Amino acid sequence: MIKLPSIRIKGISMRRKRARKTKESIESEIPPIEERKAIVFKSYRDFKEVESYPLYEPWAYARILQHKVTGEILYYIDEIPLTPREKQTYKQIMDILYWELEPPPSDKEVIPYFTAQAKRIVKTFQIRMGRTPGISWGKILYYVLRDSVGFGPIDPLMRDPFVEDISCSGVRKPVYVWHTRYEYIPTSLVFQDEDELDNLVVKLAHMAGKHISVAFPVVDAILPGGHRLAATYRREVSTSGSSFTIRKFREEPLTIVDLLDFGTLSPRLAAYYWLLMEHKRPGMVMGVTGSGKTTTLNALLTMLKPSVKVVTIEDTPELRLPLENWVQLTPRMSYGLSGERIGEITLFDLVKISLRYRPDIIVVGEVRGEEAYVLFQAMATGHGGMTTLHAENIDAAVKRLTSPPMNIPKGYIPLMNFAALIRRVEIVDSRTGRSTVTRRITNTWEIADYDNYIEIHKWNPRTDEHEINLKASKLLELITELRGWDMDKIIEELDRRTIIMEWMKLKRLRSYKEVAQIIREYYLDSERIYQKVVSELKLRPA
Ligand SMILES: Nc1ncnc2c1ncn2[C@@H]1O[C@H](COP(=O)(O)OP(=O)(O)OP(=O)(O)O)[C@@H](O)[C@H]1O
Ligand SMILES: [Mg+2]
Repeated sequence: MIKLPSIRIKGISMRRKRARKTKESIESEIPPIEERKAIVFKSYRDFKEVESYPLYEPWAYARILQHKVTGEILYYIDEIPLTPREKQTYKQIMDILYWELEPPPSDKEVIPYFTAQAKRIVKTFQIRMGRTPGISWGKILYYVLRDSVGFGPIDPLMRDPFVEDISCSGVRKPVYVWHTRYEYIPTSLVFQDEDELDNLVVKLAHMAGKHISVAFPVVDAILPGGHRLAATYRREVSTSGSSFTIRKFREEPLTIVDLLDFGTLSPRLAAYYWLLMEHKRPGMVMGVTGSGKTTTLNALLTMLKPSVKVVTIEDTPELRLPLENWVQLTPRMSYGLSGERIGEITLFDLVKISLRYRPDIIVVGEVRGEEAYVLFQAMATGHGGMTTLHAENIDAAVKRLTSPPMNIPKGYIPLMNFAALIRRVEIVDSRTGRSTVTRRITNTWEIADYDNYIEIHKWNPRTDEHEINLKASKLLELITELRGWDMDKIIEELDRRTIIMEWMKLKRLRSYKEVAQIIREYYLDSERIYQKVVSELKLRPA
């Protein structure tokens, strides 16, 4: 039973005077940074710091540590600790929050509303306590917000722009992150207590507007901010207890220019894909988990003509397209207890219904099951289609497509006109000798037949270059026929688009809006923008 502190929160107006008196006590007492570092290195004696950066100043920092002997990298979450007295106050405030928080009115946004309420409650409590030397209210507010409206103990990781994924596979095991610079590394966060982890999983599920329990122990949902959550509850389906994994959502999606910048693909390859997109050629992006399939798919789809009608169907909505004629569909799970899936709407149902929208292109975020068959059927009747597929190479991809549960007839396979494979690869800097992990589209095939794939492009790991052989392209041949062009004309068009891509890369026109705007302008008046680009490039000093 939670013991309620004997204070009333509402009706604080009479106590304003006292607040002024305690102003100085509001100032937080933050230990100097050197002192905090010393605390870290006391428990991590054998590690040295590689780098550190703030996550939420002055309360939380990331410290990347490296073992002096083994070289092992560790992500230390340096959060300013609460003193025992502060902890007690924090607990009292959390109890009050539990009772006092009221649901927001329908016209208010949930997170800002709860944040304001939590701040009000902390403030009221502070006023009620009077002079409190030695208590840092700023610190208490940090923890209260972290654990009420924030993501709890993983909140600092959610704030780290270099962290792409966060995963926890059970109690007494470190939480792991995928860090842009250090790949998959353990963190100093370890849940020692099953209840604590269970509570976090329940909290995350609730934040995503879903329910998780012994009866429904699996959740796949979207957290506020668009982050993708997959979680399991207790030991119902995962042997080491509750677990979760979060794929963080980027505020700004990576664009084709970002991918050019990282070297994921080359301007020439981007120009080739652009032509395929303009002509609605169906294609798929393949790769293993987290390789960058959805990101690449999104970047390809931004090169579509703005007038194209697209329906996207995804388990969790991740794609963002600069198109007006875009319908975004997501399946609905059933919570029926009887085993009947009453009211459930699956990917399969959605692909079927999407045909009613008369789309030019149907995009299935990832094909896994029987929805693939409907997608191929739609492509057989002249619709465009794009998707991603979990596979390590083209042979494995086709094998997966033609086997249960997808069961695509072999004759349908070439309806998917092209396939790109994206991989995480290690690149060694020849000057420094330092190796980094990055992503490359390593191969592109045109699918001529069930077992006939034409390799149009291959990434060379030795030179880190994209080698492209467009002479073999059947799709470019098809486009020349459709447009009444000859081969020279299509090569000229490719050259022009390559220059546009190079120019965008050079000018760092990488934001989602900028890229969409230039693509749109090119479709409206390619000559005008091309001339502008050429003259700008010429004007640049050599
Ligand atoms: N080319 C790239 N360069 C750098 N980072 C990338 C690249 N592509 C994707 N990422 C980052 O990698 C993470 C995973 O990307 P994405 O969701 O596209 O992968 P995925 O293959 O679709 O994953 P899943 O198998 O879970 O569906 C994201 O944080 C994304 O921002
Ligand atoms: Mg994906």
